[in-house]
Amino acid sequence: MSKVVDRTQEYYNSTDADEFYYRVWGGQDIHVGIYKSETEPIADASHRTVEHLGGKISHLPSGAKVLDIGAAYGGAARHIASAHGFHVTCLNLAEVQNERNREMTAEQGLSDQIRVIDGNFEDLPFEDGEFDAVWCQDSILHSGDRRRVFAEVNRVLKPGGEFIFTDPMQKKGVDKESLRPVLNRIHLESMGSFDDYQEYAKDLGWETVEIENLSDQLVVHYSRVKDELTSRRPELVEYVSQEYIDNMLTGLQHWIEAGEKGLLSWGVLHFRKPKN
Ligand SMILES: C[S@@+](CC[C@H](N)C(=O)[O-])C[C@H]1O[C@@H](n2cnc3c(N)ncnc32)[C@H](O)[C@@H]1O
Repeated sequence: MSKVVDRTQEYYNSTDADEFYYRVWGGQDIHVGIYKSETEPIADASHRTVEHLGGKISHLPSGAKVLDIGAAYGGAARHIASAHGFHVTCLNLAEVQNERNREMTAEQGLSDQIRVIDGNFEDLPFEDGEFDAVWCQDSILHSGDRRRVFAEVNRVLKPGGEFIFTDPMQKKGVDKESLRPVLNRIHLESMGSFDDYQEYAKDLGWETVEIENLSDQLVVHYSRVKDELTSRRPELVEYVSQEYIDNMLTGLQHWIEAGEKGLLSWGVLHFRKPKN
């Protein structure tokens, strides 16, 4: 396992991170939301992102096999399993999150449609051509080798299969040093960009289904998370250390400032592997 994968696993398994993400986002989803207003609950906006992506693969038949890489607490898997009838495999690095995922999935009576697997998306433990679609929300940013993630996705997709994902990205060409405070918040080595991902897809011969730039949501989202963390701090200190909260508030401010300067992007990328 590479150093960045090790650090990410340790980070998301830590009590501080687990309690922070679980409580501040509302327990199911931990990705950028699509907001109707700047005061909307984070959980509602985050669920809207899942519905938005789900709509883009709703043409797949009930029973289609979907792999969610970096699935965390499994909110997306439960939504697409119940709303679209898909069979979902959740693959995720942090065992602590996977346990919560299994519990919530069982509570919602979806264990026969969803399996949760401990693993690394740089080295997928699946056969070639197992899945009709691969799904990923805000997780590829953690990879130290994003081309490899794409190659693995390509390998496990059936011919004609689809890859749909969101990711916090950097604007192409921004130098690493000006992004350092952004990278440090969650121990990233680097960030991808819309251009990088389109280049990897092109090199694999994938067709672009849609690229949707929703970068304006990034600043709204991280501002909401920062406000929520600030106002709920007295209640959260019972579960999350003061040091983690202080570092997170500083880190979120760096993301907000970088977003306002136009250094960061976020959106949906949707590709299709050729039929043959
Ligand atoms: C910001 S969270 C997003 C989680 C989830 N997709 C969601 O939207 O709620 C990033 C997730 O990526 C997972 N992750 C990071 N690197 C990974 C890797 N190499 N393999 C599998 N999962 C990984 C982490 O465990 C974490 O759950």
